[in-house]
Amino acid sequence: MAPKSLVLGALLIVAAAAASTARGAALGTSTNTSALISGVVPCAVGNSINLATVPIFPNASLQLVRAGKVVTSATADGNGVFVINLVGIARPMVSDLVTNGCKVVVLTPLGACDKSLAGAVGTLSAPLKLLGLDTGSGSGDIGGLVGGIVGIVIGLVNGILGGLINLGTQAFSFV
Ligand SMILES: *[C@@H]1O[C@H](CO)[C@@H](O)[C@H](O)[C@H]1NC(C)=O
Ligand SMILES: *[C@@H]1O[C@H](CO)[C@@H](O)[C@H](O)[C@H]1NC(C)=O
Repeated sequence: MAPKSLVLGALLIVAAAAASTARGAALGTSTNTSALISGVVPCAVGNSINLATVPIFPNASLQLVRAGKVVTSATADGNGVFVINLVGIARPMVSDLVTNGCKVVVLTPLGACDKSLAGAVGTLSAPLKLLGLDTGSGSGDIGGLVGGIVGIVIGLVNGILGGLINLGTQAFSFV
């Protein structure tokens, strides 16, 4: 895996290009982008919680939060699995979704899944990570480019982004 700083640097360069060319992009270009965010909620405290080593949090209620504002709410199932489906999202939202501008925040207190954690003070949350892209063309890529953050940002530049963005969560932390 490439060092995070390199990936981030590449992203920033592409994002800067996006910002400078967005104005010149055809204003009439209309896309209909959806996002599917899924994950498993852990029942644990700590930083970067490893899901493989802790119990799951059944029926947890949670929210997708963007810049301090609630985008939507969801509830995990009995296996701690949640799915959030966003339909017809605007480009700034797409951008925030793929560049760590959103997070999943669990509302249900940890005491609900483990009584010994009832006194824990903090909030369980996780940033998002990009899993893939389905443009509906079957290729999974935009313009022949390999999918991923850079591919999506190039999609934004070209105003061709549509289809479905698949996102998961990075590790949850309780802070
Ligand atoms: C956008 O896509 C969603 C899901 O495929 C669909 O339900 C909706 O009608 C579409 N909206 C427009 C304006 O095309
Ligand atoms: C989760 O919710 C389902 C449906 O309401 C319920 O049947 C199940 O017992 C709940 N699980 C836990 C561990 O609370």
